[in-house]
Amino acid sequence: RSAAPTDLVVFGGTGDLAMRKLLPALLLCEKDGRLAPTTRIVAVSRDGIGDADYRGKAEAAVADNPSVLRAGAVPAPVLRRFLERLHHVPLDLDEPGDGWDRLRALLDAAPGGDAGRGRVYYLAMPPMLFGRICADLEANGLAGGESRVVLEKPLGRDLESAREINDAVGAVFSERRTFRIDHYLGKETVQNLLALRFANMFLEPVWNSRWIDHVQITAAETVGVGTRHGYYDRSGAMRDMVQNHLLQLLCLIAMEPPSSFDREAVRDEKVKVLQSLAPLAGEEALRHTARGQYSAGSQGGREVPGYTGEPGADGASSTETFVALEAAVANWRWAGVPFYLRTGKRMARRYSEIVVQFRGVPHPIFPGQGAAPSPNRLVIRLQPEETIRLHMLAKEPGAGELRLRPAPLELSLSDSFAVRSPDAYERLLMDVMNGDPTLFMRRDEVEAAWRWVDPVIGAWQGTDPEPYAPGGTGPQGAHDLLARSGRAWHEGE
Ligand code: BG6
Repeated sequence: RSAAPTDLVVFGGTGDLAMRKLLPALLLCEKDGRLAPTTRIVAVSRDGIGDADYRGKAEAAVADNPSVLRAGAVPAPVLRRFLERLHHVPLDLDEPGDGWDRLRALLDAAPGGDAGRGRVYYLAMPPMLFGRICADLEANGLAGGESRVVLEKPLGRDLESAREINDAVGAVFSERRTFRIDHYLGKETVQNLLALRFANMFLEPVWNSRWIDHVQITAAETVGVGTRHGYYDRSGAMRDMVQNHLLQLLCLIAMEPPSSFDREAVRDEKVKVLQSLAPLAGEEALRHTARGQYSAGSQGGREVPGYTGEPGADGASSTETFVALEAAVANWRWAGVPFYLRTGKRMARRYSEIVVQFRGVPHPIFPGQGAAPSPNRLVIRLQPEETIRLHMLAKEPGAGELRLRPAPLELSLSDSFAVRSPDAYERLLMDVMNGDPTLFMRRDEVEAAWRWVDPVIGAWQGTDPEPYAPGGTGPQGAHDLLARSGRAWHEGE
């Protein structure tokens, strides 16, 4: 099914996000026939280039994009049709000249007229510009009707700045027309987690503190900060990954069943989880968290610079590139169940997964069957592969002494369904064009997440992150965090 005909206007249209994520995702939507024939993509940036140059840039960007390559060859007519949808409007926010008029003229000249045509402004820009762009859109008569705005994360750098941004955006676009993107929510396995929990009967009875010992959520990356030092140094892993992606995953694991798969019902349940997080501040926050920063060293046989040696870095920095923490969801279902969250750059492998670790059996009867840790784990792998695995113990075949052996029950989504899984941005861009905000963050969610994160970041002031070697499993402090209660990180398989 193709999305509604739309003018998708991307502010920051020549930037990293547009080139690496948005255009490739839109091309793949094109390939699958999911863009309406008259949909246009209008890039806005300071660059003084015209449509032809922009199309050239876009063609080069999608040519070697990993998601595009993975999806197989793009037939020439598909690529041509896609490139023809692209336009570029030069517009410097500080010195707009006739930039806004040119944008308006282009949007007014919609193919096939305006009827039933959506308009989406995607702000792939630093968050402190969000309010200003929205005000400018309104002042230029471009924010009316059913036009929508998409805001990239991170939304601000603390609760106060998030509120200011939300107020400024909200003065122009109502909440219904505001789409706050968290691309983790667009990942196939993340949505599958909802299906797994709420379309099947067998998990719900055991989905609580009686049966579950703890939960681990890991998002590990092999890359460093690369060329994003300017942004990253003011952000750090807590604001870049935990405040949004990791807490959103925690919400999906911990939420109560919503009464329907309705945009508000799902988000109502998620926000309740964020509001139930036990506050962490001061000493308590220091005890329940570990922060790290990668040092120089060898990773996969290659020498890599440390965080403070990356391009754009100027000397010492106390920004963390790794965070591990223990959170508690203070309600009946989860009382006493630690949620361990961990994310880091320059780790041994790139993988994101959720591990739900069940408790041990109350009374072991088989030889060699220790009490802890229990072999029963549900491992939901988001990437690189998309699998859901339930680890169990089974009898090892043979007539001798009864021996137990771990054996996983596996649902491999790519093997079970012979279709390509769309990239997160494909899914979310289609949802925006169709006006469906279910997988986007509501204002109260974002603010509740900051409310919990702020005191943790506050507790870190004046402390330095622990150095960790590239290509490993992060700083020792992260292991100590679990070892204190006799637990250990599941390092994937
Ligand atoms: C982004 C962060 O939101 O997510 C990046 O800003 C991070 O720092 C990226 O690399 C990770 O996304 P993914 O989909 O590759 O896990």
